[in-house]
Amino acid sequence: MSAYSELRAALRETPKTWLVTGAAGFIGSNLAEELLKNGQTVVGLDNFSTGFRRNLDMLRGGAGKNADNFRFIEGDIRDLACCRQVCAGVDYVLHQAALGSVPRSLDDPVLTNASNIDGFLNMLVAARDAGVKNFVYAASSSTYGDEPTLPKVEERIGRPLSPYAVTKYVNELYADVFASAYGLNSIGLRYFNVFGRRQDPEGAYAAVIPLWFAGLLRGERIHINGDGENSRDFCYIDNCVQANILAACAARPEALNRVYNVAFGQSTTLNELFLLIREEAARHNPRAAAAEAEYRDFRAGDVRHSLADIGRAQRLLGYKPAYGVREGLREAGAWYAAHL
Ligand SMILES: NC(=O)c1ccc[n+]([C@@H]2O[C@H](COP(=O)([O-])OP(=O)(O)OC[C@H]3O[C@@H](n4cnc5c(N)ncnc54)[C@H](O)[C@@H]3O)[C@@H](O)[C@H]2O)c1
Repeated sequence: MSAYSELRAALRETPKTWLVTGAAGFIGSNLAEELLKNGQTVVGLDNFSTGFRRNLDMLRGGAGKNADNFRFIEGDIRDLACCRQVCAGVDYVLHQAALGSVPRSLDDPVLTNASNIDGFLNMLVAARDAGVKNFVYAASSSTYGDEPTLPKVEERIGRPLSPYAVTKYVNELYADVFASAYGLNSIGLRYFNVFGRRQDPEGAYAAVIPLWFAGLLRGERIHINGDGENSRDFCYIDNCVQANILAACAARPEALNRVYNVAFGQSTTLNELFLLIREEAARHNPRAAAAEAEYRDFRAGDVRHSLADIGRAQRLLGYKPAYGVREGLREAGAWYAAHL
């Protein structure tokens, strides 16, 4: 049995109380659903800045009879009193609430800073004072910045290339200080391009996979920023959920108070990604098979290549990503075809 299967069995035996911030968002709603399905009690927090009530409805639907174990509070992590309210009585925090997107942070660095740094600090203070066992937070591969080494190993980071990257790196620094100064256990998960059901395809800051699925399924034009040879380590949502739950329950001292890459560990260029998504979209809309992409300028703040070394998460957390890019895209394509 894998470490993750064993852990879920143990959690079902002895359920815990979890706080998921950003619960109305893409990753947060998937985390909450998986925890509820495994008999856990979940408190969700969100201010609906980029999240949706429909995601809460879907996660409750997925949880079935366990949906009653979910309590949602509409609130903002920029409000310390609200953070204290939601941390009360919680065993584990999975902190996802933040404003994502490199371009958004370039357009409005002050707003990004407020949620991603002020809000993060409020959450650390509240989690510390509530005595939570472990504070797991969404860090980001953007922290590697201009460091050219591939694959990315956790110790070697470069200079941040966007305000968003600064905020995510500051999160790591704060978490470190809260461990050494106050003894708050934490784990930072540097996500690499997570994708899958419920990731928002709409708006100026949509991520590439939902954007392209929506475009191809609707018969719209697809744009590739740059020459299409930028590459990423695309990680299906279920791998990310696994990493969060393993990290929260990590007990070995050497596993705590560190950051981990969360990815699949495989590089895909945008040109390759386009072909894969087109193939999956064509299963649901045969006209997509003939779609061609249009190339335009590179986008500011984007790194050229990104590929993770996931060895640390495998060794210390027992992380074993179950979905490759192709399998994940098949699931995601079916979901977008059913929900757009
Ligand atoms: N999706 C990825 O590929 C990726 C990669 C790296 C890091 N991350 C990080 O993972 C986390 C989750 O991202 P996601 O992709 O699910 O994005 P998302 O936008 O779907 O989810 C974020 C959620 O946080 C909520 N939120 C934002 N500011 C808030 C505030 N001040 N108070 C309360 N709630 C607030 C939003 O309403 C939203 O529901 C974020 O911290 C993001 O930076 C995501």
